[in-house]
Amino acid sequence: MRRPSSPWSSVLLLGVAAVLVPVAAMADAPSPRRQAELRHLLEQDCGSCHGLTLKGGLGPALSPSRLTGRDDDFLIDTILFGRRGTPMPPWGHELTRDDARWMVDHMRTR
Ligand code: HEC
Repeated sequence: MRRPSSPWSSVLLLGVAAVLVPVAAMADAPSPRRQAELRHLLEQDCGSCHGLTLKGGLGPALSPSRLTGRDDDFLIDTILFGRRGTPMPPWGHELTRDDARWMVDHMRTR
């Protein structure tokens, strides 16, 4: 006959989940190698419009102060889908959402 599972097994499960969930969230960040590629893309491609140091050019500055208060998803969508009617092109064909999210985090903290 099976014993009903003890309440301790759910405590144990919760403990395991508490450890695994943050690890899973980190797994979404681009690899260090991909991050180097993204940094290169930011300087070379994005920099051609936003300025080599992203201080602005044809496109606006992508500096931490200028991005303060702007919604992450709004900025990520701008990168992935571009802005219709402006020179900002869509990058969704070469960037994943996680890539774009990493770039926005990078712009906010650089
Ligand atoms: C051909 C020129 C061009 C290139 C290349 C370009 N952008 Fe842009 N970008 C623009 C322009 C122009 C705007 C402003 C659009 C507007 O007027 O709303 C813009 C807007 C943005 C914004 C929104 C800024 C804000 O304050 O709302 C982000 C974020 C952004 N670009 C990121 C990038 C990233 C990341 C890359 C490279 C992957 C890139 N851009 C490449 C021209 C460019």
